[in-house]
Amino acid sequence: MNGFEKYIPFVPQPIENRTWPDNVITHAPIWCSVDLRDGNQALIDPMNMEEKLSMFHMLVDEIGVKEIEIGFPSASDTDYEICRELIEGGHIPDDVTIQVLVQARPHLIKKTFEAIRGAKHVILHFYNSTSTLQREVVFRTDVEGVKKIATDAADLIYEMAGPVIEAGMDLRYEYSPESFMGTEMDAAVDICAAVLDCLHADADRRVILNLPTTVENCLPNQFADELEYFLRKLPGRERAIISLHPHNDRGTGVATTEIGLLAGAERVEACLFGNGERTGNVDLITVALNMHVQGIDSHLDFSHMDRIIQLYERCTKMKVPERQPYGGDLVFTAFSGSHQDAINKGFNYMEETHTHKWMVPYLPIDPTDLGRAYEPVRINSQSGKGGAAFIMNHKFGFDMPKAMHPEFGEIVQRESDKEGVELKPEILYRLFEEEYLKVDGPYRLISDHLTSNVENGVAVSHFYGKIRHKDTVFEVNGDGNGPIDAFFNAIRHERMNRYHFIDYKEHAISRGSDSTAVAYIHLQTADGKDVFGVGMDPNISVASIKGIICAINRGKRLESMRKHEGQ
Ligand code: KIV
Ligand code: ZN
Repeated sequence: MNGFEKYIPFVPQPIENRTWPDNVITHAPIWCSVDLRDGNQALIDPMNMEEKLSMFHMLVDEIGVKEIEIGFPSASDTDYEICRELIEGGHIPDDVTIQVLVQARPHLIKKTFEAIRGAKHVILHFYNSTSTLQREVVFRTDVEGVKKIATDAADLIYEMAGPVIEAGMDLRYEYSPESFMGTEMDAAVDICAAVLDCLHADADRRVILNLPTTVENCLPNQFADELEYFLRKLPGRERAIISLHPHNDRGTGVATTEIGLLAGAERVEACLFGNGERTGNVDLITVALNMHVQGIDSHLDFSHMDRIIQLYERCTKMKVPERQPYGGDLVFTAFSGSHQDAINKGFNYMEETHTHKWMVPYLPIDPTDLGRAYEPVRINSQSGKGGAAFIMNHKFGFDMPKAMHPEFGEIVQRESDKEGVELKPEILYRLFEEEYLKVDGPYRLISDHLTSNVENGVAVSHFYGKIRHKDTVFEVNGDGNGPIDAFFNAIRHERMNRYHFIDYKEHAISRGSDSTAVAYIHLQTADGKDVFGVGMDPNISVASIKGIICAINRGKRLESMRKHEGQ
């Protein structure tokens, strides 16, 4: 493909003895949602008042965000009005800080001070672009020129803030050297240190230095090198809270954030589902839940993911992709048979061992943490025998014996090959019902009478019943050491007797408020073919007998199908 020659490669920041690769993330950063500003400004239809308020309340009241950029009040009337409504309408909880963005320009800074009057906790976030490219192309100035823009703004802000703070506002400052990632690091240090000086930052009144990857242009490790270098060189590092604001142009916004935290950042600005300019801001949910599944408390709550998606989609008119990490529709779904089997085994293992640790392969997070109904296994032509059995168990309560899984799996496979689409659980149930529960010929149990006693210390069961075969009804009678044995002895002289009993399994199953028994019977034909039957009855012994008759009927049916296919 032509065209690559015109791009200027990223020049990595040389650094010796980098330390960030040995660090680990042990706690959550300070989160700041920029959904209402960076996310909103990137929407085809920006949010209206009602949508912004709903989004604000979800982020703050439900998800638990404590710092939230609510807009650009000097740049847009709508943002100004929303800022006023949030403050005057009493929407902002006392422990939440609103953040407002402003360019480093005097008249806009003045308007921003007007917009925030009356608020309790505010971060005034100002920015100007500092990168080599922007200096050359947009501002036509040098490092001193952009530094002056930043320091003039910082001076003005500090001056205007005095009376506001005195009047009771908890006002803090944030400075972004926009396009930090494309700025020479020594220049970035110089500009940021000067801004800290102008704002009289110290360890007790730390200023947020937000270091954006405004346009992602390098590998995450290269960004981390820049950051580590920057922090080593910054005079009075303890005066600053280092914040990240990653965009996602290379699709590595999450990695940049996580590696940036290793390199010393303490705060992250992000948007739900990675909304934001172009390919978006980094996804708040992914970064937070990546921590959650490493056993770290993210201090955010996504336990109502479906509601979050609903509100997000309504307000932004964007769609959460089906494979979006954690939130997507398909993330708790396994189509592959081997994955389904392993998931099944993971759940069984957790149940058997009573472990409190999450140990389910292929599911990195417990869906219930996100308030999701459990639906890990879905069936298409790629699915194996385990998946269908899993759904029959977890959705409908039929816990088939393992030996039966291949037989039912084959029935399901045939149907999905035929239909060529995903088979919903209801279809699986219909197949199970048609194949096992509704089989009522050629043999049918008309009546049954079963007694069990202990005679001379030995358990004896007696079965007496009537069976219909096509138009004929005949009586059967037999004793045995249990109901199944008694029934086999009862049919010993009938044409039904050409099956060997192999195994059975039974359990109770709840249907509404009633509980009934289900028995799975494994028989073998004279030529060694396995055949299964299922019987259901309130009486467990009768359920077994019905299961035997079902298996015999199915055996007959399969025999005649084979004969038919052989002809
Ligand atoms: O991406 C960016 O650089 C920004 C700044 C205004 C912080 O959104
Ligand atoms: Zn941004």
